[in-house]
Amino acid sequence: MSAVLSTHGLVARYGDFQALYGVDTELGAGECVALIGANGAGKSTFLRAVMGLLPVAREMVRLDGEPVGGTAPDRMVQKGVAIVPEGRRLFTGMSVEDNLRVAIDQAARAAGKAGARAGGKGGWTLKRVHDLFPILAEKARTPVQSLSGGQQQMVAIGRALLCQPRVLLCDEISLGLAPKVIREIYAALPEIRAAGTAVILVEQDVGLAQSASDRLYCMLEGRVTLAGKSAEISRAQIGEAYFGVGHAVA
Ligand SMILES: Nc1ncnc2c1ncn2[C@@H]1O[C@H](COP(=O)(O)OP(=O)(O)OP(=O)(O)O)[C@@H](O)[C@H]1O
Ligand SMILES: [Mg+2]
Repeated sequence: MSAVLSTHGLVARYGDFQALYGVDTELGAGECVALIGANGAGKSTFLRAVMGLLPVAREMVRLDGEPVGGTAPDRMVQKGVAIVPEGRRLFTGMSVEDNLRVAIDQAARAAGKAGARAGGKGGWTLKRVHDLFPILAEKARTPVQSLSGGQQQMVAIGRALLCQPRVLLCDEISLGLAPKVIREIYAALPEIRAAGTAVILVEQDVGLAQSASDRLYCMLEGRVTLAGKSAEISRAQIGEAYFGVGHAVA
């Protein structure tokens, strides 16, 4: 597999507290990889470390083989990595469309900068985001804070796509949403992947993670405890990797 993104002994700290202990992962071009694990396992930290939101050594993260660890987040966006962060972090007080336009402007600036590498070949436009999530066209002028949680998540995903990513990092996009809305959001994944974007999905719902991904990593206390093809991994293996040996659940 030629990895678009890979991590090599990735270590991350918050001050004196070590949150990641040498995490090795690979994401193939166009692949969807799920990252599961209990609260505090280090999933969000992993995404933050990849995105350059935490200081990490250059060799610990590679994009198309190029060492990029510790690159500033805006440069990572220019290089084709976008994140749908925990808690969405939308611009409250701004409309749905203005939230999306921020990403369009950011991508345009990145493309215009000499030396900036082009991001994905996805060609995401406002219209394509509206086709993916029609409600965002209907609510274009609505202040983003008056949308439902699911609609806000759609804005967050749309905003990330408009950065034209080759790699999309999603942090718990289903959290707190009703099953019907979760299905709507997950239904967008095949189209996102068809646009040539590889996806890392951090997901608490193990069944959902397994069914939506090609491969899966489970983390426990800052380490990868299980890696494999999602369709081939058993519940028992996941239970063990999730809670640690001796705490496996059927
Ligand atoms: N800003 C921070 N400062 C200090 N410690 C932190 C910080 N953020 C996270 N941690 C710690 O790092 C560890 C990993 O946290 P992280 O948020 O990555 O876990 P997670 O797997 O995303 O969990 P959750 O499922 O609850 O989102 C936890 O022990 C957490 O308490
Ligand atoms: Mg988290």
